[in-house]
Amino acid sequence: MSVIPAPMGLIAELTHRCPLQCAYCSNPLEMVAPREELTTAQWLRVIDEAADIGILQLHLTGGEPMARPDLPKIVAHAAARGLYTNLITSGVLLTDAAMADLLTTGIDHIQLSFQGAEASAADSMGGYKGGHARKLDAARRIREAGLTLTTNFVIHRRNIADLPAMLAMGENLGSDRIEIAHTQYYGWALKNRAALLPTREQLERATTQVEAARERLMGRVVIDYVVPDYYAERPKACMGGWGRLFIHLLPSGKALPCHAAETIPGISFASVRDTSLAEVWQNDPAFNRFRATGWMPEPCKSCDRREIDWGGCRCQALALLGDASATDPVCDRSPDHPIMAELVAQSSDSALALVPRRLRGG
Ligand code: SF4
Ligand code: FES
Repeated sequence: MSVIPAPMGLIAELTHRCPLQCAYCSNPLEMVAPREELTTAQWLRVIDEAADIGILQLHLTGGEPMARPDLPKIVAHAAARGLYTNLITSGVLLTDAAMADLLTTGIDHIQLSFQGAEASAADSMGGYKGGHARKLDAARRIREAGLTLTTNFVIHRRNIADLPAMLAMGENLGSDRIEIAHTQYYGWALKNRAALLPTREQLERATTQVEAARERLMGRVVIDYVVPDYYAERPKACMGGWGRLFIHLLPSGKALPCHAAETIPGISFASVRDTSLAEVWQNDPAFNRFRATGWMPEPCKSCDRREIDWGGCRCQALALLGDASATDPVCDRSPDHPIMAELVAQSSDSALALVPRRLRGG
């Protein structure tokens, strides 16, 4: 059997614990309890295995990865093994002391997420009073430490009108990169889709505002823009293709090709507790299930874009069509594409209450 080239990155969900409760979270509805999390020693062993098979990047996420007291140990170990370390955090736990600890580790990059530009609305979405102010302090600490800063804003119909203020805030905080990401509808966000999906007019205005900011900040700040699938004509190459670039680890050690793969029925996933990363990557049937193009149905099978978007997102095909092996209905070449317009038409209620993210669905 041919050898699969090494993955580029390991995405490590260190914990599903999080002080925030954002209704747009893409974590699963059934999250991993703290007692089920990998131990420090297990994470360090997994990082060794990642380095041994040639993985280059470690993305530390959650939940809130800073809720793990052993985070500095994990980052330091990864840095010592030559991995590029990227911490994705809400920043509310990034105190002076925590920053000092992190700076001893050799961390490369911090991505700081904001719920908006205006404190009370942002705190309300996060369910954490004073959270926005703590994030502003965290951004200042990151800049003072001389680390590269990405500020991340997730937008949806309730905060999209503040986009110009978010762009200005990202600039004023000294971001090297600003990521404006339309909500991706998985996990809690999927549950809240009807209340979060923007209108087409909102989307078009936001896109124009992002393009203007890109022009204005060219050469100074990079602006990434993640567009909403529901208005697209071509799907995203989810994860850069199933089993192609990334291994995604749950806090329990379960190894997935993408963060939502567990929603797909009939597939079982190995755990790094008892299977090596190398074995998972090369031989796990779950990673081979939708790898490359052999699994594809028409119209993907004979499409000129099949090695560009890899048929889109398997988990979205499952969520919207009930069939993970179908062409992602975001694609206008899919016979199921008309469902997208129907979903948009049903998802336009600003008055709907949001269901906040809670551990164990509580
Ligand atoms: Fe991509 Fe399949 Fe659509 Fe072609 S038909 S553009 S491969 S999703
Ligand atoms: Fe699973 Fe896209 S989230 S393939």
